[in-house]
Order: sequence, then structure tokens, then C-alpha cells
Amino acid sequence: MKTIAIIGGTGMLGAPVAEQLKQDGYQVRILSRNIDNARQQLGDGFDYQQADIHDLPSLKRALKNVDAVHLNLSGHSKQSYYASHVQGTKNVIQALKERPDTLISMISSAMAYPEFNDRWDNHYKWEAEQLLKASGHPYLAFLPSWFMETLPLFVQKNKVTLIGPSTKPIHWVSAKDYAQEVSKAYQSPECRNQRLSIFGCSTLTMEEALARYAQHHGLTLQRMPAWVASTIGWLTRDEVLMDIANLMTHYDKHGEKAPLDVIKTGTSVLDWIKSSPSPQVA
Ligand SMILES: NC(=O)c1ccc[n+]([C@@H]2O[C@H](COP(=O)([O-])OP(=O)(O)OC[C@H]3O[C@@H](n4cnc5c(N)ncnc54)[C@H](OP(=O)(O)O)[C@@H]3O)[C@@H](O)[C@H]2O)c1
Repeated sequence: MKTIAIIGGTGMLGAPVAEQLKQDGYQVRILSRNIDNARQQLGDGFDYQQADIHDLPSLKRALKNVDAVHLNLSGHSKQSYYASHVQGTKNVIQALKERPDTLISMISSAMAYPEFNDRWDNHYKWEAEQLLKASGHPYLAFLPSWFMETLPLFVQKNKVTLIGPSTKPIHWVSAKDYAQEVSKAYQSPECRNQRLSIFGCSTLTMEEALARYAQHHGLTLQRMPAWVASTIGWLTRDEVLMDIANLMTHYDKHGEKAPLDVIKTGTSVLDWIKSSPSPQVA
């Protein structure tokens, strides 16, 4: 396998995968809605193609002659998760209709199980995985735990805000470790048609991780109940804030489901925090 296309290669979790695959000798094609921005962000060494997952002709053009496609799509509401994961995956399969040997992989989530389908991200990731399975293409679904790279996203004005309850341990994973596991799976032809759970080697609750992060960077930790965040989100029409409040409550209610064959990665959350750059305090 030589050429891997990445849809969402400019994303927080797509960019490390693009970099790792390039380092490991693959030709990596970044499909982006804005290739000037993508080139500015990721630099040389990639092939850039304009494509929108909702525009089938652009997908067909951009996916010419690729051996594999990795999907790194996100969402922040029921509609956007459905559009990117279900509609988007259908479009990719349609664009590759004449080439059933093309491997399709996707970032799913450690919570993508039918029993957690009351949250739409889990629900639509599960549905996207079923589409890949039924497509006849070789596929891979990566199920990482919570990423350490999200910790700085809780910083605002010198404060780190814990939203909602925090009682369950999380197997924090670093984006770099995750990217290495994605590349390893690509390099192992025997590793196909599987769900690969990727967990970090140590656990901390969300509160413990945010407290350690705040302490390391000299910030204050504050707590906001989920209902307050949800109400502010509703009043300010901030769908992302409403989604985070819902996600934190849901994650804390269920905890992580750890299958027996989980892949454990090496970076601990405390080591990651120690080497993390100072967050931008807006
Ligand atoms: N945060 C966690 O701890 C965690 C844990 C497990 C799983 N995940 C999952 O990881 C996934 C990826 O997250 P992320 O943070 O990397 O997302 P992100 O930073 O929001 O990136 C999303 C990417 O999607 C691309 N995109 C959006 N709309 C598109 C369209 N219409 N056509 C083509 N490309 C489009 C964007 O590319 P362009 O703008 O360049 O077009 C961008 O690169 C999410 O689904 C999330 O649920 C996250």
C-alpha cells in the first residue's frame, strides 16, 4: 500500500495521523475543503486535493488512485454528526464503488457501542462502522479513549473549567501514541476488518487530569455544573457548550468500556502534562 488519503487531515486528531503515516513512508493525500489553509497548516510533503465529503464529484476526483482512505470527521450536534459520519461515509463508499479493495479506516470512539447510543456521536459512529462493514471494503475502526490534547480546550481566561460530574477513571491517550497505532495497523496486513480499542497506560478522572494540568501551568481550576453549562449554551445558542455539558454527564454516567484486547499506549497523562506547552489564555 502506497497512497493513503485522509479526510479531516487538518483536524486535531487527523494531523498527527497524517504526519505519522508520512514519516512511516506512505504518500499521504490530504483532502480538505480549503487546500490553501491545509497547506499552510501542514506544510510540504503532502499531496493536497480539494474535496468536500458532501460533494460526491469532488470526492471521486480527489480519491483517484488511492489505496486507502482514513476518515477523521467530527461534529458538535445531532445534525452535524449525522451529516459527517453517516452521510459522509455513504458518500465515500459511493465514490469508491468501482474499487472495492480500497481500505477505509475511521476514527470511532471508545464509547461507540449500541448501549451508549443515546448520545448521537456514539450512535452515528456506530452506524458509520456498520456502513463500512456492509460495504465489502476492507476496513478498520479505531476506538480511542479520551485524548490528552483536549485538556487545553478547557482553559479560558486563566481558568480551567471542569464541566459536569467527574467520578470515573479515563484511560487518557496522546494523539501521537494514537497516530502510531493507526500507522502500525496500516502496516499489518493481517490487521483488517477489526475494531481496535486504543487506551492510555494510566487513568485519572477528568477532575484529576484538569487539576494536574491547571497546577502545572499555574492556572485556577473552577467547577461548573453541567446544567449551568447547558443553560448558558442554550441561552447563547452555543451548540458546542451544550454538547460538552451533555458529553461530560454521559461519559461520567457510563464510564469507559474496556474490552479485553485493548491496545495500551505508553505516554502517561502526567508525563504529557509536564511536557505540554503553556496554553493560550484568551
Ligand atoms: N476528543 C476526544 O477525546 C476524542 C476521543 C475519541 C474520538 N474522538 C473523535 O475524533 C474525531 C475527530 O476529532 P478532531 O478533533 O480531529 O476533529 P476536528 O479538529 O474538528 O477536525 C475535523 C476535520 O473534518 C474536516 N471536515 C469537516 N467537514 C468536512 C467536509 N464537509 N468535507 C471534508 N472534510 C471536512 C475538516 O477538514 P477541512 O476543514 O480541512 O476541510 C477537519 O480536518 C471526532 O469525531 C471525535 O468524536 C475524539
